[in-house]
Order: sequence, then structure tokens, then C-alpha cells
Amino acid sequence: MIPGKKIKTAYFCSQCGAQHPRWQGQCKECGAWNSLIEERVPDKRKAGMKGSSAETRTIAQIEGEILTGWRSGVVEFDRVIGGSLLPGQTVLLGGDPGIGKSTLMLQAAEAYSRQKLPVLYVTGEESMSQIKLRSNRLKVMGENVTVVTITTLEEIVDLVRATDYAVVLIDSIQTIVSSQFDSPPGTVAQIRECANTLIGEAKSKGFALFLVGHVTKEGLVAGPKVLEHMVDTVVYFEGDSSHLYRMLRAVKNRFGSVAEIGLFEMGSDGLSEVTNPSAFFLSGHSDQPRSGSVVSAIVEGNRPLLVEVQALVARGSYGNPQRVAGGIDNKKLALLLAILERRCDYPMSQHDVFVSVAGGLRVTEPALDLAVLTAITSSLVNRTVDHRLLAIGEVGLSGEVRGVTHIDRRVAEAVRLGFETILIPAANESQVQEKSARIVAISNLQLALDIALG
Ligand SMILES: Nc1ncnc2c1ncn2[C@@H]1O[C@H](COP(=O)(O)OP(=O)(O)O)[C@@H](O)[C@H]1O
Ligand SMILES: [Mg+2]
Repeated sequence: MIPGKKIKTAYFCSQCGAQHPRWQGQCKECGAWNSLIEERVPDKRKAGMKGSSAETRTIAQIEGEILTGWRSGVVEFDRVIGGSLLPGQTVLLGGDPGIGKSTLMLQAAEAYSRQKLPVLYVTGEESMSQIKLRSNRLKVMGENVTVVTITTLEEIVDLVRATDYAVVLIDSIQTIVSSQFDSPPGTVAQIRECANTLIGEAKSKGFALFLVGHVTKEGLVAGPKVLEHMVDTVVYFEGDSSHLYRMLRAVKNRFGSVAEIGLFEMGSDGLSEVTNPSAFFLSGHSDQPRSGSVVSAIVEGNRPLLVEVQALVARGSYGNPQRVAGGIDNKKLALLLAILERRCDYPMSQHDVFVSVAGGLRVTEPALDLAVLTAITSSLVNRTVDHRLLAIGEVGLSGEVRGVTHIDRRVAEAVRLGFETILIPAANESQVQEKSARIVAISNLQLALDIALG
């Protein structure tokens, strides 16, 4: 409770920013649980009703100023933020704590600086010497990168007004406070006000602005979702901190496609681009046939990606069989096992089943179903699957294999990496012209298992 009688407070959702008059366990807007925080309601500024002095033009009358934008030269990064960074563009970079946002921002700062763009890196989380340490590790020279450690909004505004930076990075928006509010840093009111002011400065001064935001699960610090509608571009940095790969994914872009991902590998000297992701995710794939291992082609963003599904089926020793899925949804696994048991008569209920997608990738695409089921059956009957066989297809409840999108791209990627037999859904057969691999059209699961397991 915030003391004092006259101060008006309300409950704000830390996930979506919605305002509620009283506390409740679940946010009515976004459905998040335990996410409401009591905060002071920002005073409404008195808006005078003066005559408008805004200049109006028809689109045809708008002249010049066709902006070309800046490229960092890091292809995986540039593609996700919309090709090139436009003056005045605002980008929100969200991600779990520790995933590598600061690392990415520092390397982006260096890349822009190499393009002779003056960059300002504002950090509210680390000291100058910590930044220097990290820069040494990442081999960041930072000739044109100015670092400043401040946390007050007004100081940042004074600084960017007095100088001419092309790119300004704020790490993180949750640490910045405006002295106009007495609520603590990270509250919905603070991060909205700070982001709003900085976005305004970026638009009027013409610098590109990056705001870093930690994803918060619940509780006292508002997450980046609260800011998504305010910025031009929203990108999330994802990955599994126990694996090396990191994926940068655009979820909103006013100036480019959102179907773009960028792939990086985290190493001791920072992030490096993964330009051949399929080869990266298949790096542990055996060059000998093995049981329980099947490769499939998924599409992330606009890119086809080959992934290896591994399965291990063991006779259960306890009453309740174990089902453990890594990289795919547990419920999805249960569903696929039920299909296998009912449609193909394999006795799954007495077996423990472990399935994982190699490399730590999380896959939600149904096109992986056929590979998952083939891998499970291969392990169950202990028969190998040719390591140059690849299976694509969604499996329906009656055991039918259903068509998938972008079949041509998936097949082309499989051929590029040397796969010789490709199982595709019969519904997609007419869309594939590939001659350099054996394309087998599959209408149901049993047929696929017969072909794959010989
Ligand atoms: N000395 C190091 N060697 C290798 N990797 C490191 C080292 N220091 C940090 N990292 C990697 O960087 C990650 C932290 O990155 P950081 O950019 O600070 O994350 P964020 O800003 O998203 O919280 C760590 O989880 C680790 O993977
Ligand atoms: Mg950080």
C-alpha cells in the first residue's frame, strides 16, 4: 500500500499494462495470474484546447526525405530489424534475463560504430568497468561508442538533445526512472513514461532507439509487453541458456517483415552469426543409420531448418509410464502416442517414451509430427532409419498425413544437405518438382512407418 490518503492508486498488470480499479488474482485483459501491482495513477496533464498549428500535406505533396537507413553489417541482425535501421526507428529488444541481450546490444553498437555511426550506449545495469571487461572479452573496440551510466530520464534527454548520436541504446528500460513520478523503477507507469519520452526524442531528433527489456514472469517489474504497441519494431531474443544457439525473432515491424529470424551462437567471445542453421542443428547427427533418430524440415520465419528428432522407448518398470518431451509440447507427445497406439496398434501404454529435438530448439510446427512418430516407432521396434531419410508431415487424429506449408523450401533445404529419400504428405505432391532426391508421397502414418522402417 502506498501511504497517504490523497494519492490515487490503481492496479496495473505487469504483463500487459492494463489498469484495474481493484486487486484481483488474474488480469482480465491478458489472463496473466498474479501480475497486478498497485501503482500511483499518473496525473493527467492539462491539455489546453488551443488552435492546432500542425502542418498538413497530401501524400503526393510530401517531398524528399526518402530514408535509406543504416546497416550494421551483421546480416542476421539487420534482417530481423527490417533490413536497415531508419533514423527515428524505435526497436524494443525483449528476452529472459541472462539470455544475451546486453551482449547483442554491445556487439550491435560496435557494428554500427564500424559503419562510422556515432552510438550512445546508456546502461543502468552495469558499471563502466564491467562494460570495459565485457568489451575486451567480445573484442569490441568501440571507437564511436560512447558509454554512459545513468538512470534518470531527464539526464538522458538532456544528453541526447545536446549531442548528435545516430543510434542510442538503453539497457535496460526497466532501470530508467523519471523524477516526475515517485513510483520505483520498473513499474508500469515509469517504463511507459520513460519509453514514451525517449521515443518522442528519437522521432524529433532522428536517432534510432533501442530499448532493452527483461521478460518478467510476474510480480514487481513490468515486462516489455507493456511497451510493444509504442515502438516500431519488437524483437525477442530467445534460446535455452543451457544450449549455445540464440534466436532473434521479430514479432512486430512497421518497416519490414515479421517472418524473419536471425540465428546466433553464444561463445566466450560473444555472439557469432549462424549462416547455415541446418548444418548447425544437424552437427551431431550420425552418419550411420541409428534407431530412434529421424530428421525433419521445419520452417522458422521464412527459413527452412533441418532438425533431428531423437526418441528412446523403454519398457516401463512402474505402473505409470513416463512421457518426457524436450523441444516439443508434452501434450502433443501424448496425442501422437495415442494415435500410434490406436491407428497402428503399437502397445505404447506399457512403455516409457522420451523424445527430444536435438540442439535445444523448441518446435511448435505440426510438420514435425511424422518425424516424431517415426523416431518413436523406430526405437520401439529397434529398427534403424536410413540417416539420409527425412520425414515431413502433420499427422491427424485418424492417422492420416496432412499437407504442410512451404513444402518446396523444405524439400530444397533437405536436398541441399544431402538427404536422399524425402517423405512428404500426399497433399503436397504436386507442389514438388525436385528430381535429385527420391520423393515419396505419403497418405497415412502406417505407410510412412512401412517405408522408413523397411
Ligand atoms: N566469460 C564468459 N564466457 C562465456 N560466456 C559468457 C561469459 N560471460 C557471460 N557469458 C554469456 O553471456 C550471457 C549473459 O549475457 P548478457 O548479455 O549479460 O545477458 P542479458 O543482458 O540478456 O541479461 C551468459 O548467460 C553467458 O551465456
Ligand atoms: Mg543485460
